[in-house]
Order: sequence, then structure tokens, then C-alpha cells
Amino acid sequence: MTPLIDPFARPISYLRVSVTDRCDFRCTYCMAEHMQFLPKKDLLTLEELDRLCSTFIRLGVEKLRVTGGEPLVRRDILTFFRSIARHLETGALKELTLTTNGSQLAKVAADLAALGIRRINVSLDTLEAAKFAEITRWGRLPQVLEGIAAAKRAGLKVKINTVALKGFNEDELFPLLDWCAGEGHDLTFIEVMPMGEMGEEMRLDQYWALKDLRARLADRFTLTDLAERTGGPARYVRIEETGQKVGFITPLSHNFCESCNRVRVTCTGELFMCLGQEDNADLRAPLRASEGDELLEQAIRAAIARKPKGHDFDYSRQKVAGQMSRHMSHTGG
Ligand code: GTP
Ligand code: 5AD
Ligand code: SF4
Repeated sequence: MTPLIDPFARPISYLRVSVTDRCDFRCTYCMAEHMQFLPKKDLLTLEELDRLCSTFIRLGVEKLRVTGGEPLVRRDILTFFRSIARHLETGALKELTLTTNGSQLAKVAADLAALGIRRINVSLDTLEAAKFAEITRWGRLPQVLEGIAAAKRAGLKVKINTVALKGFNEDELFPLLDWCAGEGHDLTFIEVMPMGEMGEEMRLDQYWALKDLRARLADRFTLTDLAERTGGPARYVRIEETGQKVGFITPLSHNFCESCNRVRVTCTGELFMCLGQEDNADLRAPLRASEGDELLEQAIRAAIARKPKGHDFDYSRQKVAGQMSRHMSHTGG
């Protein structure tokens, strides 16, 4: 079987699959408050999602991340996890994981751990309840903190993902760091990307370059760059004084597209070859056209053959370039 290699010689070994466009939160940088969600008939069934992921795994994908929307609000999602976990047992899949807002973790963390999931990423931008309610619109902080605690009790390693937002969580840099150190969670900061509709001025206002955040850390601590990677775009440093590891995802200030190893599938079977480009390929039609996977495989290969070099996000010159009207919840980040 020829593995998936794109036109820039990048092997594709990481699939992010969004299992629902719905979410129980409405984070302001991710969704509009009133979203039009997809009708159920457009969604891939859990069986179809399984066939799709299994085909990618056969083609060399070793890391599978389940996203949303909020993946844990999809009905019966544990059935899907249970089934796909068979690829962990055969060794074909090295890592099965998810990115979640944490709201449902208290209910399912133990089940996820029992299936062979080892580490999960939880989005958390603030530790202050009022600010949490403001940024997520519908979310409640205690529920998420309980979920994260349940994940830890279940033995799951937790990575906290924090979107760096100017004037919003700047003042929480050290509290977030301390809380993660105390709880034993890894922490990664993400630069906010221009996805979904939001005025240019607001985007520029909320952008907090991680160079800046890093400099603030360096004022207080000694930082050592680490070579280790988790297969995602984050670059890590170690804080020498505490031993804590901190990650930076810098699509704006430092483009990491040259080492891109991933593609995304939405819950309707659209394959996006780049988070920051519109081009996509329909995998639902070939999936439904026959029982075998040949058509699906051909469609995947044809799409990978046109994976673009990278995104065009850029905030320099005080303008928003590369803006996507697609919301982040559509592809799960
Ligand atoms: P691990 O390294 O396994 O922890 O995962 P990850 O960083 O790949 O996954 P995670 O879901 O934590 O990704 C965090 C965020 O980084 C995503 O939600 C996106 O906002 C951003 N991100 C991930 N991959 C890409 C990418 O290919 N391009 C861009 N521009 N942003 C990305
Ligand atoms: N820019 C950067 N990160 C975003 N996320 C959602 N929208 C954006 C955006 N516009 C993050 C969430 C979550 C992950 C799935 O994507 O906070 O951590
Ligand atoms: Fe939901 Fe995550 Fe988007 Fe927030 S960032 S609205 S939790 S999908």
C-alpha cells in the first residue's frame, strides 16, 4: 500500500475527524450565538465514520483525533470510540485521542480511558467563572473543572489548550500556569486565527502574539526549547525553575505549515486538506456509492495530491489576511 504523501513531500499520518458540528458552548471566537446546524440526514453515520477512519488508517494514518463541535455531544459516540479502538489493539493506530470542551467528561472519562485513550486535549481559556461564562456564552466553569478532574482520576493525561486573547486572559498567564503545574496538566497556548465572521478590528484587537506571551514568561523564568513533538503543531519549552512544559501553537507569528502532517474530515464527510484554505473533497459520495472502499480510497488520494502548501493567515500590516468564513467548529480546529 503506497502511503499518503502530498505534493510537498509531507507524509499524511494524522487525521482529525469532526463527528458533529454541534456544541453545547458558543465560544465567541469559534461560533456565532445562533448557529444553523446541519440536518441529521447530512451527517455520516457512526458506521460510515468508522469506514472512513479505517480507510485512512489503512493508508497510513497513525494518529486519530476526534473533534467537533463538541465530540462528546454526538449521540452514542462511545460506540464509535469502542469500534475504532480495535486499530489500537492491532497496532495500526498509535494514538486515539480527542479535543473536547470538557463539559461531558465527568460522565465518560472512565469509559474513554478503558478504551485505550491515553491523553486528551481540553479547551480552557480562563479560570475565572464570570469570564468563562462570557467567552463560552453558554458554558459553566465548575462543570468543566469537574470534567477535567474526572479525566485525571481516570488516568487520562490532560493537555489544556488556551487561546491567547489580548485583554481577556493576559492577566491569567501565571495563574493558568500555576494551576496546570499543581494539577499535573500540560498547557499549550494558541494564537487566535481568523475563522468565522468577526469584524477585522475585533480580530486584531483580540490577537495576542505568542512571542509576546513567551517574553513575559522569560521575564520570570528560564525557558529551554525542547525538540520533542506530539505530532501536532505545538512547539514546547521547559520552564527550568519548575520543570513544567509549555506549548505554543503559532499559526500567525510563526508558520509551521512546512511540517504539516494532517488533514481534516467534517461530520458530513468533507475532506479539508488545510485548515486555512477552502478547497475540500467530498468523501460522502464515494463512501455511499459502493460497499467496497476503492472509490473512497481514490477520492482520498486525489485530494491529498492537491493539498496546498499552507494557510494565508496574516495580521502583519494591521490587516487581517487569509480570513476564512468557515467557523472553526466546522472542522474542529
Ligand atoms: P497534540 O499535539 O497531539 O496535543 O495535538 P494538536 O495540537 O494537534 O491538537 P489540538 O486539537 O490540541 O490542536 C490545537 C489547536 O491548534 C487546534 O484547535 C487549532 O486551533 C490549531 N491547529 C492544529 N493543527 C493546525 C494546523 O494544521 N494549522 C493551523 N493553522 N492550526 C492548527
Ligand atoms: N483560533 C484559534 N483557536 C481556536 N479554537 C477555536 N476557534 C479558534 C480560533 N479562531 C480552538 C478552541 C479549541 C480548539 C478546538 O480550537 O479553543 O481549543
Ligand atoms: Fe464549542 Fe469548542 Fe467552538 Fe467553544 S471552541 S464553541 S467549545 S467547538
